[in-house]
Amino acid sequence: MSDLTSKVIVVTGGASGIGKETVLQLTAKGATVVIADFNEDAAKQLASEVESKGGNASAYKIDVSKGDEVKQLIDWTSDTFGTFNGIFNNAGIGLVKPLLEMDPESYHKVIDVDQHSVYYGIYYAAKKMVELGVQGTIVNTASIYGSVAATGSFNYNAAKAAVVMMSKSAALELAEHGIRVNGVAPGFIDTPILGESPEVKAALAEQHMRGELIKPEKVASVVTFLFTEEASAVNGQTIPVDDGFLSFKVK
Ligand SMILES: NC(=O)c1ccc[n+]([C@@H]2O[C@H](COP(=O)([O-])OP(=O)(O)OC[C@H]3O[C@@H](n4cnc5c(N)ncnc54)[C@H](O)[C@@H]3O)[C@@H](O)[C@H]2O)c1
Repeated sequence: MSDLTSKVIVVTGGASGIGKETVLQLTAKGATVVIADFNEDAAKQLASEVESKGGNASAYKIDVSKGDEVKQLIDWTSDTFGTFNGIFNNAGIGLVKPLLEMDPESYHKVIDVDQHSVYYGIYYAAKKMVELGVQGTIVNTASIYGSVAATGSFNYNAAKAAVVMMSKSAALELAEHGIRVNGVAPGFIDTPILGESPEVKAALAEQHMRGELIKPEKVASVVTFLFTEEASAVNGQTIPVDDGFLSFKVK
């Protein structure tokens, strides 16, 4: 895969899980990465780890559900590094509740963090790229639950389905500027978002073809590919990284 030296890429939710592994892979390929996360301590720790390996990364504290903060993040990145080539809109949360208990607060919490943040990331990133004349790349984290409904996930299903369509719609409108937009749809990935319960984790793992949770680096390698030149003909897609989940019926 081609190298990403001279590319400046923002990773939201970059301090943990899928985002963290993506930061490690992008920086290993030479990219300068801004680790944008609510968890500033973890972001700083990861930036130090990257620097100790000879890579370039900076920590940036943000709440991605706030549009003005996302705009400031993009402005800061481009002002600090002199350019801006890409964003991985990945930060997200889950909040499982039955639909009959899905009060407006619970609904909006997930929609704000998992859906509106992706709009802010696409909108402000694309405007900056066009202003700079950069033919950049945007990648968004959707989910298998953007395609299939899951119990207790009305809010999350709605947000992730929106992310799938935002990737297509943005790709359509930004193609004339040379900007590509894609997504990934992870299956059940072994990250803190799944919680601690071994029973829950085992039940999720069973739904994959190999009966195991997927390692976050497996999602990160697909995301990293999408940022490279080799993926220049991939546009408007959301690529499942789900060990077959969307392709078969669980026994
Ligand atoms: N783990 C899975 O099974 C799975 C499956 C499908 C999709 N996803 C999606 O992958 C993405 C990454 O999740 P993960 O599994 O790596 O979980 P994670 O909990 O390990 O990482 C999420 C990161 O996002 C950050 N974050 C949360 N809310 C934020 C906010 N408002 N502003 C800034 N940062 C915020 C957290 O601090 C954390 O570092 C999410 O969008 C999630 O919905 C995960």
